[in-house]
Amino acid sequence: MPPTRVIIDTDPGIDDALALILAFASPELSVEAITTVAGNVTVAQATRNACLLLELVDPRPRPPIASGATRPMTRPLRTAESYHGGDGLGELSRFRTEGGEPRYPEPQQRLAVQSAPALMAELISAAPGEIVLICIGPLTNLAMAIQAAPTEMAKVKGIVVMGGAIQAPGNITPGAEFNLYTDPEAAKLVFTSGLPITLVPLDVTQRVLLRAELIEAIVQHIGSCTTQFVRDTTERLFGVEQARAGCAAIPLHDPLAVGVVIDPSLVTRRPFYVEMETGEGPAQGMTIADRRQIKDEWKQPPNLQVCTEVDAGRFIALFLERICRLPA
Ligand code: BDR
Ligand code: CA
Repeated sequence: MPPTRVIIDTDPGIDDALALILAFASPELSVEAITTVAGNVTVAQATRNACLLLELVDPRPRPPIASGATRPMTRPLRTAESYHGGDGLGELSRFRTEGGEPRYPEPQQRLAVQSAPALMAELISAAPGEIVLICIGPLTNLAMAIQAAPTEMAKVKGIVVMGGAIQAPGNITPGAEFNLYTDPEAAKLVFTSGLPITLVPLDVTQRVLLRAELIEAIVQHIGSCTTQFVRDTTERLFGVEQARAGCAAIPLHDPLAVGVVIDPSLVTRRPFYVEMETGEGPAQGMTIADRRQIKDEWKQPPNLQVCTEVDAGRFIALFLERICRLPA
């Protein structure tokens, strides 16, 4: 089977960085482009972080990186540095080589000339029915691409979105998940586009937990720069999760969205009609799924395939095995 061609739209972000590493370490995928969006950090920082990742992993060929939306469609940007660190990657400037140089120097990677939405539309239209878009940040770039180039975007093979909370509580508010809460207008436009979308919500991503002991064991065993990076970028976040949730474990939200494309059998999907709440107030950014136990003809037709179950053990094993594969 040839690898699945993917574009990853991202706001790195620690779990975004882990998702990119998983994608590059997986022969089932061919990463054709990385597009960046404002979310966890500003788009400038997200783009810099994507460049840093690419220089660390050094995939051949190197996919282009295109920078995208600087803020949500109609709202101001609210970033998440308290969770991901000031640089979005767990404060990497703390780490030095034995010679005292920064362990993670400023990346030099050049950017694509196109904006993120333009590059998405161009690549998808050039390979009809072949490209899967994996969106692991707010949906601003995707919404802009659908608005500007609906015919081109209709040629996408599929779209996998990490976001939303169907039965699970939210993570940024009691009811809403961060990516969709950040730009609910974009999410609404995407969910009503008629495109083939799989939603990977908190219901499943919060069940795939990375524990500090696992990382330590792997770094002891495989001392590559990738495993070292995984330890460095997650180190601070284990403390944040301990303080916040009482457990030193990191939910692998974004890596699971990549995992769903690597191995679709990791999750169970169910069709749902899902609507976005865009109004102000406590429900802002919530995903309202029609879970009523009534006959289909009494409901709106499903617009999303929602992941409802995950084989968490198998996914964590896949993730750990893959991060050990990348060369030192
Ligand atoms: C999502 O929010 C971000 O902070 C993470 O990178 C992930 O994409 C989880 O709600
Ligand atoms: Ca993200």
